Amino acid sequence: MNFELKTLDLAQLAREKCDALLVLVDDHFKPGSGALSELVAQALKSGDFSAKTGRLLQTYRHPGLAATRLVLVGAGDGSVKQVRNAAAAAVNAIKASRCKQAVLHLGALAAVNEAVVSGAMLAVADTTYVYTTTKPKAEARSLQTVTLGVADAAACQAGHRHGRGILAGIELAKEWANRPANHATPTHLATAAQALGKPAKFKTEVLGPKEVTRLGMGSFLAVAKGSEEPLRFIVMRYDGAAKTEAPVVLVGKGITFDTGGISIKPAGEMDEMKFDMCGAASVLGVFKALAELRPALNVVGLIPACENMPDGRAIKPGDVVTSMSGQTIEILNTDAEGRLVLCDALTYAERFKPRAVIDIATLTGACVVALGGVRSGLFSANDTLATALQTAGDAALDPCWRLPLDDEYAEGLKTNFADVANIAGRMAGAVTAAKFLQRFTAKFDWAHLDIAGTAWKSGAAKGATGRPVALLVHYLLGQAAATPARAPATRTPRAKSTTPAARARRA
Ligand code: BES
Ligand code: MN
Ligand code: ZN
Repeated sequence: MNFELKTLDLAQLAREKCDALLVLVDDHFKPGSGALSELVAQALKSGDFSAKTGRLLQTYRHPGLAATRLVLVGAGDGSVKQVRNAAAAAVNAIKASRCKQAVLHLGALAAVNEAVVSGAMLAVADTTYVYTTTKPKAEARSLQTVTLGVADAAACQAGHRHGRGILAGIELAKEWANRPANHATPTHLATAAQALGKPAKFKTEVLGPKEVTRLGMGSFLAVAKGSEEPLRFIVMRYDGAAKTEAPVVLVGKGITFDTGGISIKPAGEMDEMKFDMCGAASVLGVFKALAELRPALNVVGLIPACENMPDGRAIKPGDVVTSMSGQTIEILNTDAEGRLVLCDALTYAERFKPRAVIDIATLTGACVVALGGVRSGLFSANDTLATALQTAGDAALDPCWRLPLDDEYAEGLKTNFADVANIAGRMAGAVTAAKFLQRFTAKFDWAHLDIAGTAWKSGAAKGATGRPVALLVHYLLGQAAATPARAPATRTPRAKSTTPAARARRA
Protein backbone atom coordinates (compact mmCIF):
# COMPACT_ATOMS: atom_id res chain seq x y z
CA MET A 1 0.00 0.00 0.00
CA ASN A 2 1.17 3.45 -0.86
CA PHE A 3 1.04 6.34 1.60
CA GLU A 4 1.36 9.91 0.41
CA LEU A 5 1.59 13.14 2.35
CA LYS A 6 -0.28 16.26 1.30
CA THR A 7 -0.85 19.66 2.83
CA LEU A 8 -4.63 20.09 3.06
CA ASP A 9 -7.15 22.05 5.08
CA LEU A 10 -10.84 21.21 5.32
CA ALA A 11 -11.72 23.64 2.53
CA GLN A 12 -9.21 22.01 0.14
CA LEU A 13 -10.25 18.58 1.34
CA ALA A 14 -13.78 19.12 -0.04
CA ARG A 15 -12.24 19.33 -3.52
CA GLU A 16 -10.15 16.13 -3.19
CA LYS A 17 -11.34 13.47 -5.62
CA CYS A 18 -11.13 10.00 -4.11
CA ASP A 19 -13.24 7.00 -3.11
CA ALA A 20 -13.37 8.01 0.53
CA LEU A 21 -12.51 10.93 2.74
CA LEU A 22 -11.77 9.81 6.29
CA VAL A 23 -11.75 12.84 8.54
CA LEU A 24 -10.42 12.51 12.08
CA VAL A 25 -12.00 14.90 14.55
CA ASP A 26 -10.69 15.31 18.09
CA ASP A 27 -11.96 17.07 21.22
CA HIS A 28 -10.20 20.28 20.24
CA PHE A 29 -12.00 20.72 16.92
CA LYS A 30 -12.38 24.37 15.87
CA PRO A 31 -14.57 25.06 12.83
CA GLY A 32 -12.87 26.98 10.03
CA SER A 33 -14.21 28.11 6.69
CA GLY A 34 -15.94 25.99 4.09
CA ALA A 35 -18.83 23.59 3.82
CA LEU A 36 -17.00 20.56 5.20
CA SER A 37 -15.96 22.40 8.34
CA GLU A 38 -19.52 23.57 8.79
CA LEU A 39 -20.83 20.05 8.31
CA VAL A 40 -18.53 18.77 11.08
CA ALA A 41 -19.54 21.62 13.38
CA GLN A 42 -23.23 20.96 12.82
CA ALA A 43 -22.90 17.23 13.30
CA LEU A 44 -21.10 17.85 16.58
CA LYS A 45 -23.70 20.38 17.68
CA SER A 46 -26.66 18.16 16.85
CA GLY A 47 -25.19 15.19 18.67
CA ASP A 48 -25.25 13.02 15.54
CA PHE A 49 -21.51 12.84 15.87
CA SER A 50 -18.98 13.30 18.67
CA ALA A 51 -15.21 13.26 18.97
CA LYS A 52 -15.39 10.19 21.21
CA THR A 53 -12.90 7.67 19.82
CA GLY A 54 -14.39 5.42 17.21
CA ARG A 55 -17.66 7.37 16.78
CA LEU A 56 -18.56 7.38 13.09
CA LEU A 57 -20.77 9.41 10.81
CA GLN A 58 -20.95 8.53 7.11
CA THR A 59 -22.40 10.14 4.02
CA TYR A 60 -22.49 9.14 0.36
CA ARG A 61 -22.16 11.47 -2.66
CA HIS A 62 -22.57 14.49 -0.50
CA PRO A 63 -23.16 17.62 -2.62
CA GLY A 64 -20.18 19.90 -2.41
CA LEU A 65 -17.71 17.06 -1.93
CA ALA A 66 -15.58 15.68 -4.75
CA ALA A 67 -15.11 12.41 -2.85
CA THR A 68 -17.64 9.59 -3.15
CA ARG A 69 -17.81 8.79 0.55
CA LEU A 70 -17.25 10.82 3.65
CA VAL A 71 -16.53 9.27 7.02
CA LEU A 72 -16.17 11.45 10.08
CA VAL A 73 -14.46 9.60 12.90
CA GLY A 74 -13.95 10.64 16.49
CA ALA A 75 -10.31 10.75 17.61
CA GLY A 76 -10.83 11.50 21.31
CA ASP A 77 -8.07 13.60 22.82
CA GLY A 78 -6.01 13.34 19.62
CA SER A 79 -3.26 11.27 21.28
CA VAL A 80 -1.35 8.76 19.18
CA LYS A 81 -3.30 5.90 20.71
CA GLN A 82 -6.70 7.48 19.99
CA VAL A 83 -5.63 8.42 16.47
CA ARG A 84 -4.57 4.83 15.87
CA ASN A 85 -7.93 3.53 17.07
CA ALA A 86 -9.81 6.15 15.06
CA ALA A 87 -7.89 5.42 11.85
CA ALA A 88 -8.57 1.71 12.29
CA ALA A 89 -12.31 2.35 12.84
CA ALA A 90 -12.52 4.59 9.78
CA VAL A 91 -10.78 2.08 7.52
CA ASN A 92 -12.96 -0.74 8.85
CA ALA A 93 -16.04 1.33 8.05
CA ILE A 94 -15.17 1.46 4.33
CA LYS A 95 -13.77 -2.08 4.08
CA ALA A 96 -16.88 -3.54 2.42
CA SER A 97 -16.90 -0.73 -0.19
CA ARG A 98 -13.55 -1.90 -1.56
CA CYS A 99 -12.26 1.63 -1.99
CA LYS A 100 -8.97 2.00 -3.86
CA GLN A 101 -8.02 5.53 -2.93
CA ALA A 102 -8.70 7.27 0.33
CA VAL A 103 -7.65 10.45 2.04
CA LEU A 104 -7.04 10.07 5.75
CA HIS A 105 -7.29 13.59 7.03
CA LEU A 106 -5.26 14.40 10.13
CA GLY A 107 -5.18 18.11 9.40
CA ALA A 108 -8.16 18.89 11.63
CA LEU A 109 -6.44 17.48 14.71
CA ALA A 110 -5.01 19.91 17.24
CA ALA A 111 -1.50 18.46 17.34
CA VAL A 112 0.01 16.30 14.62
CA ASN A 113 3.54 15.13 15.28
CA GLU A 114 5.80 12.43 13.89
CA ALA A 115 4.25 9.76 16.14
CA VAL A 116 0.68 10.63 15.12
CA VAL A 117 1.54 10.35 11.42
CA SER A 118 3.36 7.03 11.71
CA GLY A 119 0.76 5.72 14.20
CA ALA A 120 -2.06 6.43 11.74
CA MET A 121 -0.16 4.75 8.91
CA LEU A 122 0.51 1.63 10.97
CA ALA A 123 -3.17 1.42 11.96
CA VAL A 124 -4.32 1.59 8.33
CA ALA A 125 -1.77 -1.00 7.24
CA ASP A 126 -2.66 -3.29 10.12
CA THR A 127 -6.42 -3.23 9.50
CA THR A 128 -6.02 -3.89 5.78
CA TYR A 129 -3.27 -6.55 5.93
CA VAL A 130 -4.17 -9.76 4.12
CA TYR A 131 -2.11 -12.96 4.49
CA THR A 132 -1.41 -14.43 1.05
CA THR A 133 1.44 -16.95 1.07
CA THR A 134 -0.69 -20.10 1.30
CA LYS A 135 -3.98 -18.38 0.44
CA PRO A 136 -3.12 -16.50 -2.74
CA LYS A 137 -6.77 -16.18 -3.75
CA ALA A 138 -7.71 -14.38 -0.54
CA GLU A 139 -9.54 -11.17 -1.36
CA ALA A 140 -6.63 -8.80 -1.77
CA ARG A 141 -6.27 -5.54 0.05
CA SER A 142 -8.37 -3.15 -2.03
CA LEU A 143 -6.97 0.08 -0.64
CA GLN A 144 -4.03 1.03 -2.87
CA THR A 145 -3.26 4.62 -2.05
CA VAL A 146 -3.86 6.50 1.16
CA THR A 147 -3.15 10.21 1.14
CA LEU A 148 -2.49 11.61 4.58
CA GLY A 149 -3.93 15.09 4.76
CA VAL A 150 -1.97 17.29 7.17
CA ALA A 151 -1.63 21.00 7.89
CA ASP A 152 2.06 21.02 6.98
CA ALA A 153 3.41 18.14 4.89
CA ALA A 154 7.03 19.25 5.26
CA ALA A 155 6.79 19.07 9.05
CA CYS A 156 5.43 15.51 8.86
CA GLN A 157 8.02 14.05 6.52
CA ALA A 158 10.07 12.27 9.19
CA GLY A 159 6.97 10.59 10.63
CA HIS A 160 5.90 9.52 7.16
CA ARG A 161 9.33 8.06 6.41
CA HIS A 162 9.58 6.22 9.72
CA GLY A 163 6.04 4.94 9.34
CA ARG A 164 6.85 3.53 5.91
CA GLY A 165 9.99 1.78 7.12
CA ILE A 166 8.37 0.34 10.22
CA LEU A 167 5.29 -0.91 8.40
CA ALA A 168 7.42 -2.63 5.76
CA GLY A 169 9.18 -4.40 8.64
CA ILE A 170 5.94 -5.29 10.40
CA GLU A 171 4.38 -6.72 7.23
CA LEU A 172 7.43 -8.85 6.50
CA ALA A 173 7.42 -10.15 10.09
CA LYS A 174 3.68 -10.91 9.92
CA GLU A 175 3.88 -12.78 6.65
CA TRP A 176 6.77 -14.98 7.80
CA ALA A 177 5.22 -15.59 11.21
CA ASN A 178 1.86 -16.52 9.66
CA ARG A 179 3.33 -19.08 7.29
CA PRO A 180 2.71 -22.65 8.40
CA ALA A 181 5.77 -24.60 9.51
CA ASN A 182 6.03 -26.52 6.23
CA HIS A 183 6.33 -23.18 4.42
CA ALA A 184 8.68 -21.64 6.97
CA THR A 185 11.40 -24.17 7.67
CA PRO A 186 14.80 -23.12 9.02
CA THR A 187 16.05 -23.30 5.43
CA HIS A 188 13.22 -21.05 4.21
CA LEU A 189 14.03 -18.50 6.92
CA ALA A 190 17.69 -18.51 5.91
CA THR A 191 16.75 -17.94 2.27
CA ALA A 192 14.48 -15.07 3.32
CA ALA A 193 17.33 -13.48 5.29
CA GLN A 194 19.63 -13.78 2.29
CA ALA A 195 17.02 -12.37 -0.08
CA LEU A 196 16.50 -9.45 2.29
CA GLY A 197 20.21 -8.78 2.50
CA LYS A 198 20.99 -8.74 -1.20
CA PRO A 199 19.32 -5.55 -2.43
CA ALA A 200 20.00 -3.81 0.87
CA LYS A 201 23.66 -4.82 0.86
CA PHE A 202 23.50 -6.57 4.23
CA LYS A 203 25.94 -9.27 4.96
CA THR A 204 24.04 -12.47 5.60
CA GLU A 205 25.83 -15.62 6.65
CA VAL A 206 24.04 -18.93 7.09
CA LEU A 207 25.56 -21.73 9.16
CA GLY A 208 24.35 -25.34 9.01
CA PRO A 209 24.74 -28.34 11.35
CA LYS A 210 28.44 -28.80 10.49
CA GLU A 211 29.48 -25.26 11.33
CA VAL A 212 27.26 -25.17 14.40
CA THR A 213 28.86 -28.42 15.63
CA ARG A 214 32.29 -26.92 15.06
CA LEU A 215 31.28 -23.90 17.15
CA GLY A 216 30.35 -26.24 19.99
CA MET A 217 26.70 -25.20 20.18
CA GLY A 218 25.73 -28.44 21.93
CA SER A 219 22.54 -26.99 23.36
CA PHE A 220 21.15 -25.69 20.04
CA LEU A 221 22.16 -28.95 18.32
CA ALA A 222 20.34 -30.95 20.98
CA VAL A 223 17.00 -29.30 20.22
CA ALA A 224 17.40 -29.84 16.46
CA LYS A 225 18.22 -33.54 16.86
CA GLY A 226 14.63 -34.77 16.71
CA SER A 227 13.90 -33.16 13.35
CA GLU A 228 14.52 -34.16 9.75
CA GLU A 229 14.82 -30.48 8.88
CA PRO A 230 18.41 -29.31 9.17
CA LEU A 231 18.99 -26.42 11.58
CA ARG A 232 20.14 -23.01 10.38
CA PHE A 233 22.04 -20.35 12.29
CA ILE A 234 21.46 -17.03 10.53
CA VAL A 235 23.83 -14.10 11.02
CA MET A 236 22.80 -10.75 9.54
CA ARG A 237 24.89 -7.58 9.69
CA TYR A 238 23.64 -4.10 8.99
CA ASP A 239 26.55 -1.66 8.99
CA GLY A 240 25.20 1.87 9.09
CA ALA A 241 28.00 3.40 11.14
CA ALA A 242 31.79 3.24 11.33
CA LYS A 243 33.31 -0.19 11.95
CA THR A 244 34.57 1.01 15.33
CA GLU A 245 31.00 1.49 16.60
CA ALA A 246 29.90 -1.44 18.75
CA PRO A 247 26.73 -3.01 17.33
CA VAL A 248 23.40 -3.74 18.93
CA VAL A 249 22.80 -7.48 18.61
CA LEU A 250 19.26 -8.81 18.20
CA VAL A 251 18.69 -12.52 18.83
CA GLY A 252 15.38 -14.00 17.64
CA LYS A 253 14.04 -17.38 18.74
CA GLY A 254 13.45 -19.32 15.53
CA ILE A 255 11.66 -22.52 16.51
CA THR A 256 9.76 -23.04 13.27
CA PHE A 257 7.52 -25.56 15.01
CA ASP A 258 7.40 -26.49 18.69
CA THR A 259 5.74 -29.86 19.35
CA GLY A 260 7.37 -29.90 22.77
CA GLY A 261 9.58 -32.81 21.67
CA ILE A 262 9.44 -35.94 23.86
CA SER A 263 7.76 -33.76 26.54
CA ILE A 264 5.07 -33.43 23.90
CA LYS A 265 2.38 -30.76 24.03
CA PRO A 266 -1.37 -31.54 24.09
CA ALA A 267 -3.07 -31.49 20.66
CA GLY A 268 -5.38 -28.52 21.31
CA GLU A 269 -4.12 -25.40 19.56
CA MET A 270 -0.79 -27.02 18.85
CA ASP A 271 -0.99 -25.48 15.36
CA GLU A 272 -0.22 -22.14 17.01
CA MET A 273 3.29 -23.38 17.71
CA LYS A 274 4.07 -22.46 14.10
CA PHE A 275 4.30 -18.98 15.65
CA ASP A 276 7.23 -20.07 17.81
CA MET A 277 9.53 -18.30 15.34
CA CYS A 278 7.95 -14.87 15.88
CA GLY A 279 11.14 -13.65 17.55
CA ALA A 280 13.06 -14.60 14.40
CA ALA A 281 10.38 -12.99 12.21
CA SER A 282 10.68 -9.77 14.20
CA VAL A 283 14.45 -9.71 13.61
CA LEU A 284 13.84 -10.14 9.86
CA GLY A 285 11.27 -7.34 10.08
CA VAL A 286 13.69 -5.02 11.87
CA PHE A 287 16.29 -5.64 9.18
CA LYS A 288 13.72 -4.82 6.51
CA ALA A 289 13.05 -1.54 8.31
CA LEU A 290 16.79 -0.85 8.64
CA ALA A 291 17.14 -1.39 4.90
CA GLU A 292 14.52 1.28 4.28
CA LEU A 293 15.53 3.77 6.94
CA ARG A 294 19.33 3.30 6.91
CA PRO A 295 20.07 4.77 10.35
CA ALA A 296 23.68 5.47 11.37
CA LEU A 297 24.09 2.44 13.56
CA ASN A 298 25.51 -1.06 13.43
CA VAL A 299 23.12 -3.93 14.09
CA VAL A 300 23.70 -7.68 14.10
CA GLY A 301 20.78 -10.11 13.83
CA LEU A 302 21.19 -13.70 15.04
CA ILE A 303 18.57 -16.37 14.42
CA PRO A 304 18.96 -19.91 15.74
CA ALA A 305 16.34 -21.76 13.69
CA CYS A 306 15.18 -25.36 14.02
CA GLU A 307 12.15 -27.54 14.73
CA ASN A 308 11.42 -29.12 18.11
CA MET A 309 10.19 -32.65 17.28
CA PRO A 310 9.83 -36.03 19.02
CA ASP A 311 11.82 -38.79 17.33
CA GLY A 312 14.03 -41.79 17.96
CA ARG A 313 16.97 -39.45 17.87
CA ALA A 314 15.36 -36.66 19.88
CA ILE A 315 16.69 -35.48 23.23
CA LYS A 316 15.08 -37.09 26.29
CA PRO A 317 14.21 -35.61 29.67
CA GLY A 318 17.30 -35.93 31.84
CA ASP A 319 19.79 -35.71 28.97
CA VAL A 320 22.77 -33.49 29.74
CA VAL A 321 24.33 -31.39 26.98
CA THR A 322 27.26 -28.97 26.85
CA SER A 323 26.48 -25.46 25.65
CA MET A 324 28.89 -23.29 23.64
CA SER A 325 29.69 -21.42 26.87
CA GLY A 326 30.98 -24.66 28.40
CA GLN A 327 28.14 -24.81 30.93
CA THR A 328 26.43 -28.19 31.08
CA ILE A 329 22.61 -28.24 30.96
CA GLU A 330 20.27 -30.93 32.21
CA ILE A 331 17.25 -30.96 29.90
CA LEU A 332 14.48 -31.87 32.32
CA ASN A 333 11.74 -30.83 29.91
CA THR A 334 12.29 -30.90 26.16
CA ASP A 335 9.49 -28.35 25.76
CA ALA A 336 11.66 -25.68 27.39
CA GLU A 337 13.63 -25.58 24.12
CA GLY A 338 13.65 -21.86 23.38
CA ARG A 339 16.20 -21.11 26.09
CA LEU A 340 18.33 -23.99 24.80
CA VAL A 341 18.71 -22.49 21.34
CA LEU A 342 18.99 -18.93 22.63
CA CYS A 343 21.76 -19.62 25.13
CA ASP A 344 24.19 -20.67 22.39
CA ALA A 345 23.21 -17.70 20.22
CA LEU A 346 23.86 -15.41 23.21
CA THR A 347 27.33 -16.90 23.66
CA TYR A 348 27.94 -16.40 19.92
CA ALA A 349 26.97 -12.72 20.36
CA GLU A 350 30.05 -12.13 22.54
CA ARG A 351 32.30 -12.00 19.48
CA PHE A 352 30.70 -8.76 18.31
CA LYS A 353 31.69 -6.92 21.54
CA PRO A 354 28.15 -5.51 21.47
CA ARG A 355 26.91 -2.33 23.12
CA ALA A 356 23.72 -4.25 23.93
CA VAL A 357 22.18 -7.63 23.20
CA ILE A 358 18.40 -7.99 23.04
CA ASP A 359 16.79 -11.37 22.61
CA ILE A 360 13.20 -11.68 21.41
CA ALA A 361 11.37 -14.92 22.08
CA THR A 362 7.97 -16.55 22.37
CA LEU A 363 9.49 -18.11 25.44
CA THR A 364 6.90 -18.99 28.08
CA GLY A 365 3.22 -19.67 28.51
CA ALA A 366 3.75 -18.16 31.96
CA CYS A 367 4.37 -14.74 30.38
CA VAL A 368 1.02 -15.02 28.59
CA VAL A 369 -0.61 -15.67 31.97
CA ALA A 370 1.23 -12.75 33.59
CA LEU A 371 0.76 -10.02 30.96
CA GLY A 372 -1.72 -11.32 28.37
CA GLY A 373 -1.64 -9.82 24.91
CA VAL A 374 -1.17 -6.19 25.89
CA ARG A 375 2.46 -5.85 26.99
CA SER A 376 5.47 -8.02 26.21
CA GLY A 377 7.61 -9.13 29.14
CA LEU A 378 10.86 -7.18 29.53
CA PHE A 379 13.81 -8.39 31.57
CA SER A 380 17.13 -6.62 32.07
CA ALA A 381 19.58 -6.09 34.88
CA ASN A 382 20.58 -2.82 33.21
CA ASP A 383 18.28 0.06 34.17
CA THR A 384 19.33 2.29 31.26
CA LEU A 385 18.64 -0.41 28.70
CA ALA A 386 15.36 -1.41 30.36
CA THR A 387 14.15 2.19 30.45
CA ALA A 388 15.15 2.79 26.82
CA LEU A 389 13.18 -0.27 25.69
CA GLN A 390 10.16 0.48 27.82
CA THR A 391 10.09 4.08 26.56
CA ALA A 392 10.48 2.97 22.95
CA GLY A 393 7.63 0.51 23.36
CA ASP A 394 5.32 3.12 24.83
CA ALA A 395 6.14 5.60 22.07
CA ALA A 396 5.64 2.97 19.38
CA LEU A 397 2.34 1.73 20.88
CA ASP A 398 4.08 -1.63 21.15
CA PRO A 399 4.48 -1.64 24.92
CA CYS A 400 6.37 -3.93 27.28
CA TRP A 401 6.59 -4.24 31.06
CA ARG A 402 9.64 -4.95 33.17
CA LEU A 403 9.66 -8.08 35.32
CA PRO A 404 12.24 -8.91 37.99
CA LEU A 405 15.51 -10.87 37.86
CA ASP A 406 16.28 -11.42 41.57
CA ASP A 407 18.80 -14.21 42.06
CA GLU A 408 16.39 -16.03 44.37
CA TYR A 409 14.39 -16.93 41.26
CA ALA A 410 17.32 -19.03 40.00
CA GLU A 411 17.22 -21.45 42.96
CA GLY A 412 14.99 -23.92 41.14
CA LEU A 413 17.42 -24.21 38.22
CA LYS A 414 19.92 -26.06 40.43
CA THR A 415 20.49 -29.75 39.71
CA ASN A 416 22.79 -32.54 40.91
CA PHE A 417 23.66 -33.58 37.37
CA ALA A 418 24.77 -30.44 35.49
CA ASP A 419 25.66 -26.77 35.96
CA VAL A 420 22.03 -25.81 35.40
CA ALA A 421 18.65 -27.37 34.64
CA ASN A 422 16.43 -26.01 31.87
CA ILE A 423 13.30 -25.71 34.04
CA ALA A 424 12.56 -24.65 37.60
CA GLY A 425 9.15 -25.71 38.80
CA ARG A 426 5.75 -24.13 38.26
CA MET A 427 6.12 -20.72 39.84
CA ALA A 428 7.22 -17.54 38.02
CA GLY A 429 7.95 -19.43 34.81
CA ALA A 430 8.66 -16.32 32.73
CA VAL A 431 11.22 -15.15 35.30
CA THR A 432 12.99 -18.48 35.74
CA ALA A 433 13.34 -18.75 31.94
CA ALA A 434 14.94 -15.29 31.93
CA LYS A 435 17.22 -16.33 34.82
CA PHE A 436 18.37 -19.30 32.73
CA LEU A 437 19.25 -16.99 29.81
CA GLN A 438 20.97 -14.49 32.08
CA ARG A 439 23.66 -17.08 32.87
CA PHE A 440 24.89 -16.66 29.29
CA THR A 441 25.05 -12.86 29.25
CA ALA A 442 27.86 -11.99 31.67
CA LYS A 443 29.96 -10.31 28.97
CA PHE A 444 27.51 -7.64 27.76
CA ASP A 445 24.47 -5.53 28.59
CA TRP A 446 21.44 -7.65 27.90
CA ALA A 447 17.67 -7.46 27.72
CA HIS A 448 15.13 -10.16 27.04
CA LEU A 449 11.68 -9.64 25.52
CA ASP A 450 9.20 -12.46 26.12
CA ILE A 451 6.64 -11.98 23.33
CA ALA A 452 4.67 -15.20 23.91
CA GLY A 453 1.49 -13.18 24.60
CA THR A 454 1.92 -10.36 22.09
CA ALA A 455 3.36 -11.89 18.91
CA TRP A 456 0.11 -13.39 17.65
CA LYS A 457 -3.62 -13.49 18.25
CA SER A 458 -5.67 -16.66 18.70
CA GLY A 459 -9.29 -17.35 17.81
CA ALA A 460 -11.17 -15.87 14.86
CA ALA A 461 -8.52 -13.17 14.38
CA LYS A 462 -5.73 -15.76 14.48
CA GLY A 463 -2.59 -14.25 13.05
CA ALA A 464 0.72 -12.61 13.74
CA THR A 465 0.82 -9.03 15.03
CA GLY A 466 4.28 -8.06 13.81
CA ARG A 467 5.23 -7.16 17.38
CA PRO A 468 7.74 -6.09 18.61
CA VAL A 469 9.14 -4.69 15.34
CA ALA A 470 7.86 -1.17 16.10
CA LEU A 471 9.35 -1.22 19.61
CA LEU A 472 12.73 -2.38 18.34
CA VAL A 473 12.92 0.07 15.43
CA HIS A 474 12.00 2.96 17.75
CA TYR A 475 14.72 1.84 20.14
CA LEU A 476 17.30 1.53 17.35
CA LEU A 477 16.45 4.91 15.82
CA GLY A 478 16.90 6.40 19.29
CA GLN A 479 20.28 4.69 19.57
CA ALA A 480 21.31 6.00 16.15
CA ALA A 481 20.41 9.52 17.22
CA ALA A 482 22.57 9.06 20.31
CA THR A 483 25.53 7.65 18.38
CA PRO A 484 28.38 10.14 18.03
CA ALA A 485 28.43 11.36 14.43
CA ARG A 486 31.40 9.67 12.89
CA ALA A 487 32.29 9.32 9.27
CA PRO A 488 30.19 6.49 7.84
CA ALA A 489 31.77 3.74 5.79
CA THR A 490 31.75 5.93 2.65
CA ARG A 491 34.12 8.40 4.41
CA THR A 492 32.22 11.27 2.82
CA PRO A 493 32.00 14.34 5.05
CA ARG A 494 28.50 14.05 6.51
CA ALA A 495 27.38 17.64 6.09
CA LYS A 496 28.12 17.69 2.39
CA SER A 497 27.38 14.07 1.58
CA THR A 498 24.77 13.49 -1.06
CA THR A 499 24.68 9.69 -0.96
CA PRO A 500 21.16 8.36 -0.44
CA ALA A 501 22.27 6.80 2.83
CA ALA A 502 23.62 10.08 4.13
CA ARG A 503 20.51 11.93 3.02
CA ALA A 504 18.40 9.33 4.76
CA ARG A 505 20.39 9.73 7.95
CA ARG A 506 19.84 13.46 7.96
CA ALA A 507 16.11 13.19 7.28
N1 BES B 1 6.98 -21.88 22.79
C1 BES B 1 6.64 -22.23 24.10
C2 BES B 1 6.05 -21.06 24.88
C3 BES B 1 4.62 -20.72 24.56
C4 BES B 1 3.59 -21.52 24.99
C5 BES B 1 4.33 -19.56 23.90
C6 BES B 1 2.28 -21.16 24.72
C7 BES B 1 3.02 -19.19 23.65
C8 BES B 1 2.00 -20.00 24.05
C9 BES B 1 7.87 -22.71 24.86
O1 BES B 1 8.82 -23.37 24.12
C10 BES B 1 7.39 -23.64 25.91
O2 BES B 1 6.90 -24.69 25.55
N2 BES B 1 7.55 -23.27 27.17
C11 BES B 1 7.10 -24.06 28.25
C12 BES B 1 8.16 -24.04 29.31
C13 BES B 1 7.94 -25.02 30.41
C14 BES B 1 8.13 -26.43 29.89
C15 BES B 1 8.90 -24.73 31.52
C16 BES B 1 5.80 -23.45 28.76
O3 BES B 1 5.69 -22.23 28.80
O4 BES B 1 4.90 -24.21 29.07
MN1 MN C 1 8.40 -25.46 23.96
ZN1 ZN D 1 8.89 -22.92 22.14
